[in-house]
Amino acid sequence: MPPDLQALSFQTGSIFTPGAPINEKDLFAGRSEQVEKIIDAVSQRGCHAILYGERGVGKTSLSNMISAFLANRLSFVISRTNCDISDSYSSLWAKALKDIEASKRQPQLGFPSRQAVPLTAPAYEALTPDSVRRALQDLSTMASLIVIFDEFDRIKNTEVITAMADTIKALSDNSVNATILLIGVADSVNELIREHQSIERALVQIPMPRMSDHEIRTIIDKGLARLTMAIDDPAREDLVLFSQGVPYIAHLLCIYTCRAALASGRKTIFRSHVEQGMNRSLDQWQQSIKALYNDAVQSPRPGHIYKEVLLACALAEVDDLRFFTTTAVKRPLSKITDREFESFNYARHLKDLSEPGRGRILQRVGESFRLRYRISNPILRPYIIMRGIKDKLITKDQILEGKNAADEHVEAAPLAQREYQPGL
Ligand SMILES: Nc1ncnc2c1ncn2[C@@H]1O[C@H](COP(=O)(O)OP(=O)(O)O)[C@@H](O)[C@H]1O
Ligand SMILES: [Mg+2]
Repeated sequence: MPPDLQALSFQTGSIFTPGAPINEKDLFAGRSEQVEKIIDAVSQRGCHAILYGERGVGKTSLSNMISAFLANRLSFVISRTNCDISDSYSSLWAKALKDIEASKRQPQLGFPSRQAVPLTAPAYEALTPDSVRRALQDLSTMASLIVIFDEFDRIKNTEVITAMADTIKALSDNSVNATILLIGVADSVNELIREHQSIERALVQIPMPRMSDHEIRTIIDKGLARLTMAIDDPAREDLVLFSQGVPYIAHLLCIYTCRAALASGRKTIFRSHVEQGMNRSLDQWQQSIKALYNDAVQSPRPGHIYKEVLLACALAEVDDLRFFTTTAVKRPLSKITDREFESFNYARHLKDLSEPGRGRILQRVGESFRLRYRISNPILRPYIIMRGIKDKLITKDQILEGKNAADEHVEAAPLAQREYQPGL
């Protein structure tokens, strides 16, 4: 490979970063609706927010962009704390308050330089919602505070969750100039809201859905522009299809696709490069995901259809929490196998796939007639689909046809059905 292409090939890994959230506004794509909602919450006293969505969908990246989007609008200090399963209420707030104290010593970060900032230094080992409220009240006289707790779903201790809800309530009741932003996967939000109705009004819920095709295209185009590379339209559409709205996957695919193009001596990406990129990505996928897939679809019985059923699950129409019904599997399964199926032909497969013997690759909820399933890990879905294409169980065009049919179906549904209902 010529040295300039070799250098570019190396650089792809710093532009497309499946392992790391975005830190740079120029590489950040889309999400304007969510950004607006966060800024609204920050600018309203007594208002806090919870940002929730699947893993890899871009929550941390979005929260990294808050300062860039707020710049020049407001004097503020942001603290960011990653939650850990072992964290107590005090340890969480000790980290957050220390972070704020540290930025206080760096005047350019929001606190005006010469003015003395009241020092409250509460005893970190015994923090309570009330002492936290008082500390934040003192600290927020100089600048608005934004206190982020990322990966809040890791906190399983209900006492910690209750104390956090009480804190939100106390801050809100006292109109403190501080905004708490909790970030987590969807289910934890339901729990938080269900148990603590009193904070529902003070907490803006910001769902982080999968990305639209347009947003995925923007990721691809922004990254390629930075690399001074180009892409053929059909190749771009393949990348969009394979990414399934998950920016993490878009980054993973883009690295290997760019490298495949550069290795062939080109700075323009064509479909064949995407195919090579897809195959490399499948190899590079987390070992745990590959093992889970293999365990789920193996069977000594010749002619079994576990692979086909699992692929149909990945292509089935889902609700807002990614659950699908048994009936929703019928259409994709018939397409994949080119045979007519009825629910009773494959209901047992769905049940098996949700049992420990097949790694519980599907999660099952509800009883008999109201059974619903979902794929246990969101990163699995694009994996299953790409494996399906690689193993020639389905073609890209068939997936596109199914997707268009599903989109039409969504458009025809009454609006109320499409809105997110957190209680579901
Ligand atoms: N708006 C975005 N524009 C470009 N890339 C993004 C965007 N959001 C997320 N990504 C990329 O997607 C991957 C997952 O993002 P991350 O913020 O870590 O997700 P989450 O916190 O929801 O798990 C990372 O590779 C990140 O670079
Ligand atoms: Mg994250």
